[in-house]
Amino acid sequence: MKRIAILYGGRSGEHEVSLVSAASIVRNIDLSRFEPILIGASKEGEWYLQDTKAVSRARELDAPLSIEKARRVFAAPGRGLVVETPKGVEALPCDLVFPVLHGTFGEDGTVQGLLEVADLPYVGAPVLGSALGMDKEKAKELWLRAGLPVVPFLAVRQDALRDIVSLGRKVASLFGWPCFVKPSCAGSSVGASKVAGSEGLESALRAALEWDEKALVEPFVEAREIECAVLGNDAPVAFAPGEVAPTHEFYDYDAKYVDPNGARLEVPANITSAQAERVRSVAVAAFKACELSGMARVDFFIDKRRGEVLLNEVNTIPGFTHISMYPRMCEAGGVSYPELITRLADLALEKHVMRSKLNFMK
Ligand SMILES: Nc1ncnc2c1ncn2[C@@H]1O[C@H](COP(=O)(O)OP(=O)(O)O)[C@@H](O)[C@H]1O
Ligand SMILES: [Mg+2]
Repeated sequence: MKRIAILYGGRSGEHEVSLVSAASIVRNIDLSRFEPILIGASKEGEWYLQDTKAVSRARELDAPLSIEKARRVFAAPGRGLVVETPKGVEALPCDLVFPVLHGTFGEDGTVQGLLEVADLPYVGAPVLGSALGMDKEKAKELWLRAGLPVVPFLAVRQDALRDIVSLGRKVASLFGWPCFVKPSCAGSSVGASKVAGSEGLESALRAALEWDEKALVEPFVEAREIECAVLGNDAPVAFAPGEVAPTHEFYDYDAKYVDPNGARLEVPANITSAQAERVRSVAVAAFKACELSGMARVDFFIDKRRGEVLLNEVNTIPGFTHISMYPRMCEAGGVSYPELITRLADLALEKHVMRSKLNFMK
């Protein structure tokens, strides 16, 4: 029996999504193999141990997890997790952590670094891969270097706004109009917009730069949005792709989280077998180029006119609700949700064993 800490909530715009993802994981985890320990991370970023009854409650109810702010949990350097007691702190024995934290301070390498320092195995990508998954510019630079097909991009920082006229000319000559502007490191489509012409560029960039120091300008791709689930460590496998068909102008925040009819999800995607094979092989190559492990959902565009497959971005802690694409694509490929959690935990433990064989000191 392995004790697995499910860490959820977090200091991110995707806090609420995490409460739903984590509830699904608790409902689906194989209790003959795992003893789940629930740790809720508040919006302020503090970690709290949840009562053991929260597990049975979550398995009975079809509701998002909540966070009871009573007993604080800390990651202790070299010592795993500890929990507050009336007398001080005591060890909180646990074999591995499943960070179900989407977005900032969870999916971006920061929590992964904390868990490394605490010497705890954890599900998903390591520090570097998590950080790359968050930084769309850096991930695309690596993918370009690996010869993978990415949407062309121009990275823009605040200082470029001083000469918006020449920036507008540059965008026009590189991509033409309309273009698309988004923060390099963000998620949930926040700060992202379609820009019809040079007059709209500055306000779109200002909106994107509220979320990150870097914004990306790209050609607006009229595309079908295709997603691919990848599972594994050194020999990752990609499942048959699925499609997200937003009913909005693009897959914006409202289409993702507010409008219940914001998108139609299809698993598997109705694309040609050649396109599906291309998506799968590029997904595996993209996973390897960013040195990911465990899992990732690699997102693509298929250009509506030319049928070309283009890499868009990678998510290292994808949504895990029962309707989320990642678990659904795995399920369609024969890996049930409970089996998926078991596989991810085993991959995390394997990775930790391998890394602990390395020398860290002479
Ligand atoms: N170059 C582009 N052309 C057209 N639409 C885009 C482009 N880049 C992003 N989008 C749209 O914006 C959405 C969010 O962008 P994405 O790069 O996936 O960032 P996020 O991390 O916020 O999901 C995409 O799902 C897509 O609908
Ligand atoms: Mg996306």
